[in-house]
Amino acid sequence: MVVYHPSSFFQGKKILLGVTGGIAAVKVVSLARYLTEKGARVTTCMTRHALRIVGRTSFEAVTGERVYIDSFAEGASLAHITLARSHDLILIAPATANIIGKMAHGIADDLLSTLLLVEPQKVLLAPAMNVSMWRNPVVQENVKILVERGVRIIPPSSGKLACGEEGEGRLPEVEELVEAAFQALHTPRDLAGKKILVTAGATREWVDPSRFISNPSSGLMGCALASVCRAWGGEVKLITGNLSVRVPFGVVQEVAETALAMREAVFRSFGWCDVLIMCAAVSDFRPASFSPSKIKRGESAFTLSLVPNPDILKEIGEKKGTKIVVGFCAETENVLEEAWRKLRAKNVDMMVANLVGQEETGFTAPTNKVWIVDRKGNEVVLPLLPKVDVAERIVSHLVSHFLS
Ligand code: PMT
Repeated sequence: MVVYHPSSFFQGKKILLGVTGGIAAVKVVSLARYLTEKGARVTTCMTRHALRIVGRTSFEAVTGERVYIDSFAEGASLAHITLARSHDLILIAPATANIIGKMAHGIADDLLSTLLLVEPQKVLLAPAMNVSMWRNPVVQENVKILVERGVRIIPPSSGKLACGEEGEGRLPEVEELVEAAFQALHTPRDLAGKKILVTAGATREWVDPSRFISNPSSGLMGCALASVCRAWGGEVKLITGNLSVRVPFGVVQEVAETALAMREAVFRSFGWCDVLIMCAAVSDFRPASFSPSKIKRGESAFTLSLVPNPDILKEIGEKKGTKIVVGFCAETENVLEEAWRKLRAKNVDMMVANLVGQEETGFTAPTNKVWIVDRKGNEVVLPLLPKVDVAERIVSHLVSHFLS
């Protein structure tokens, strides 16, 4: 399971997990286990209705922490204050229409609804319910009230619901809830108010309907960057070629399969963004022509004629103005010299270089080792790290050298 957060991010974080009475409460046990395994201290507060769906023992077993339920039966009459104050994040999953309504209108009739009034700025709500309930104007009004007050919402996903109906209202998958928590908890947030365009994955250049030229890029490095930029507070758009990984939570995706389509998509969104990070592995060549019918096998040698694709990054570099542009450089040798050469040739602000054709770095690997060079003359060598950790370091360099 790929989850886009730096490996030690949750270490020592204090998360109060509020579980209310929706069927999706069963899924939240895995969320509690994941966060605990990553080093977070997870305390659970359940409503009485949630207890009809999952036993408190499940949460006690996976978190190793006490589960709170009733305001007065907890041995401390001020549990609502101490619980709210002593946690970094209050994540309500699933959040029923009832808890949303209570929070929007200040109703505090049990421990969970009461503690929500103490530190509302720490609250992250993951609504989950039947589609008709979710679409009900009264629920939407309540959500709007909370959003306007600064409460963060994880929108429900669409699909088959516990009641058997289809539509919006599903609790997002555990990895998305984890990413939402990462993005909510992350500090600093220097990309707040900034629009970040990231490209990821491999372009495909079609020869005929059954064959294409491509490369092994999985899209992991670019998706990791997109999630981290979001966690730093940015609004992120991701333009993708072929991906073999999931798009991170909170990121808008646009698919552009070929180099020409990617060029068109990047140019269309470049005016919108403040920062472009070009991590996609764009094919340098494409077939001179596309055969609409499958090319038949023959006995003699077959020659494929290729023409160069436009160099998107170089074209952007020529007209980038004051926007910040970050390129990637994939090499099999002389990686640092090539990084400096491409930085100047493509007129970009930062170039991140990595070795490809190796097991632990570059294409498809879960880890990467990169060199960062920039137009201010900085040269940084990073150790081999998980790709999301690499992304965190790249964004940190970007912010401190170009956006502070
Ligand atoms: O996706 P993963 O499996 O996680 O792998 C990550 C990665 C190895 C793909 C990534 O880290 C990476 O190196 N991406 C850039 C790959 C590449 O195309 O490098 P390049 O040195 O050929 O190109 C230099 C820069 O020009 C890149 O920013 C590239 O996006 C851009 N380019 C290249 C060709 C082209 N026709 N137009 C471009 O804009």
